[in-house]
Amino acid sequence: MITGSPRTLKEFHRKLDDWVEMNALSGEGTLEFAICRADGGGLIGDISLRITNVEAGQAEIGFSLHPGRQGKGYALEAASAFLEFGFGALKLHRIFGRCDARNAGSWKLMERLGMRREAHFREHALFKGEWDEEYYYAILNREWQARTGEQPPQELKTALNGWETGPL
Ligand SMILES: CC(C)(COP(=O)(O)OP(=O)(O)OC[C@H]1O[C@@H](n2cnc3c(N)ncnc32)[C@H](O)[C@@H]1OP(=O)(O)O)[C@@H](O)C(=O)NCCC(=O)NCCS
Repeated sequence: MITGSPRTLKEFHRKLDDWVEMNALSGEGTLEFAICRADGGGLIGDISLRITNVEAGQAEIGFSLHPGRQGKGYALEAASAFLEFGFGALKLHRIFGRCDARNAGSWKLMERLGMRREAHFREHALFKGEWDEEYYYAILNREWQARTGEQPPQELKTALNGWETGPL
């Protein structure tokens, strides 16, 4: 099993109510944002930052895109803007992500973001009767700054400009 099972419409509505509450930060907790295309077309995914330790500036990133919108670079653009927000406005120290080792979509995205693979937990748990394998990835604030000090691609620059003046 690579990710959880798809939610039913009823489960999704319940989850949506929770997510709407997650639009403000007060210490440890989760910020959940919608991913929408700048040219309209509605919701295409969601992205979150779970602040796990305020004092040490630690947070976990999570993301998912509608299957029909994957493979187009949208997750990379959204996650890059979100890392910039986390390290810039929130002044976080380290952002990490976890995924099933078989979830290539997820770990390849974290590598594209410049996150380092910090751990591979082998057969560390049972999930639906099968051994689970998990990767941990992370990036430090100074590693992100060094990376974005290089020339970011044009579409990423556009996304970051949007965040500076946009919904945050
Ligand atoms: C994880 C997830 C969000 C990654 O989405 P994605 O669309 O693959 O990621 P990106 O936005 O970085 O897109 C990269 C892909 O788009 C392609 N692409 C096309 N146009 C592009 C562009 N202009 N810029 C960048 N990439 C582009 C890339 O070649 C790459 O394809 P490849 O992986 O076949 O080489 C997605 O797989 C997903 O929603 N999975 C289900 C939920 C999930 O598992 N979440 C994580 C739980 S731990």
